[in-house]
Amino acid sequence: MQIHEIAPDVYRISLYVPEINLQFNHFLIMDNQPMLYHAGMKNMFPALREAVSKLINPSALRWIGFSHFEVDECGALNEWLQIAPNALPVCSEVGALVNMGDYSIRPAHAMAQGDTITTGKHKFRFIRTPHLPHGWDAGVLFEETNKTLFCSDILHQNGDVKPITDSDILSLHKSSLLEFENGPLMGYTPYTKRTGKIIQSLVDLNPKTLATMHGSSFNGNCKQTLMDLDAVLREVWEA
Ligand SMILES: [Fe+2]
Ligand SMILES: [Fe+2]
Repeated sequence: MQIHEIAPDVYRISLYVPEINLQFNHFLIMDNQPMLYHAGMKNMFPALREAVSKLINPSALRWIGFSHFEVDECGALNEWLQIAPNALPVCSEVGALVNMGDYSIRPAHAMAQGDTITTGKHKFRFIRTPHLPHGWDAGVLFEETNKTLFCSDILHQNGDVKPITDSDILSLHKSSLLEFENGPLMGYTPYTKRTGKIIQSLVDLNPKTLATMHGSSFNGNCKQTLMDLDAVLREVWEA
């Protein structure tokens, strides 16, 4: 696990899996109420717990956030809830209703469009993004203090890349999507009638940093990159 601070108090904890040429990034936000964004997979839990321990006592975690129901997002959720007695899952209302009621050992903190959580210095706003990157329950968290967007699989890049960059990540995102299109992972991020509007809602946030789950975080021109993402997704999907 590689640890890098990609924005103030935001630590990217990354594991590269060479067999699938992919990084899995988890973000620890250090604050009075620490948050881990992406619980990670069960089989990564021991290594991720050890990495988190280098930064905080894992039992102090208060929030375990994620975008949508998938093992890299929340597979090890209950492992975290077991070692952190005050922690609660944070996800969309759909995620809480449809999945967490059965999956999680404690009820989730369900967030509606625009809801906020303050963890101390940092304030997080929830934005609903159904089916972007995928999943009915998908959403993202925007940290308003330093304008960091925790964007999950949006702008996913394959490869063992730098922790953070200000150079073009969109081209690599496009080639990663096209690589997936040629194999069993085709159809990763659909383009629906609502996708353009949802992307625009992320553009309007004017983020300073994009904390991506797979690949480099980005601190270049986030607004332009998100605006251009619309055309890339349309092209890949021939929408
Ligand atoms: Fe995903
Ligand atoms: Fe993912």
